Amino acid sequence: MIKRKNIIKIAIDSPAAAGAGTLAKAISKHYNLFYLDTGKIYRMIAYLKIRFPEKFNQKFIKTKIKNLKVEDLTNKSLLSDEVGTEASIISKVKKTRKLVHSFQLNFAYNPPKKYKGSCLDGRDITYNIIPDADFKFYITANLKTRAIRRYKELKVLNKKISLQEVLKSIKKRDKSDFNRKVSPLKKTKDSVLLNTSKLTKRACFLKIKKIIDKKIKT
Ligand code: C5P
Repeated sequence: MIKRKNIIKIAIDSPAAAGAGTLAKAISKHYNLFYLDTGKIYRMIAYLKIRFPEKFNQKFIKTKIKNLKVEDLTNKSLLSDEVGTEASIISKVKKTRKLVHSFQLNFAYNPPKKYKGSCLDGRDITYNIIPDADFKFYITANLKTRAIRRYKELKVLNKKISLQEVLKSIKKRDKSDFNRKVSPLKKTKDSVLLNTSKLTKRACFLKIKKIIDKKIKT
């Protein structure tokens, strides 16, 4: 694998809807880093499983990952609750994770030249994908706050969705992501904890910026 030298690598792990994506995007923009929302890759595989159940096997996934472009991950159909739930099921499969792993590594260590580094968020980034990251964060928020945030996002796509439904599916997803055998979500000792429950987006951004600037400018 090609590894670019002297780049900044940021690893973020978080449970669903804790605000990690919004923060990671803001941080990446500010420091000119390549941003990869790794959950979208699992969502893309989940979407394929729902859409093409008859073709769905490891070979099919392998081909799709091989030809996958970052632009493919912006598809709106990946955002639904159904796809998110399915993503937490397919992400438990070791073989599937292995295929996704290589795609992530390439972007983490060899981001496109125009960027000064990379910022990845997901569930196993701090200890599995970029264990040598320059900065590691574990971003969380209480269950109710996360459910309300996700409910507001999903309501735009699906008017019929209820807060109760979203709460239930986030609980289910937490249970699976924290307790699965393969690459479970956890906070590593060397990750900085940030609870976003009572903080504005700006306040979260400034907290992270302060940590990064301190290290970069010394
Ligand atoms: O982050 P997002 O909610 O889009 O992720 C969807 C699902 O993909 C998660 O619930 C999790 O099961 C899985 N995932 C994972 N490892 C990652 C990112 C996401 O297992 N690095």
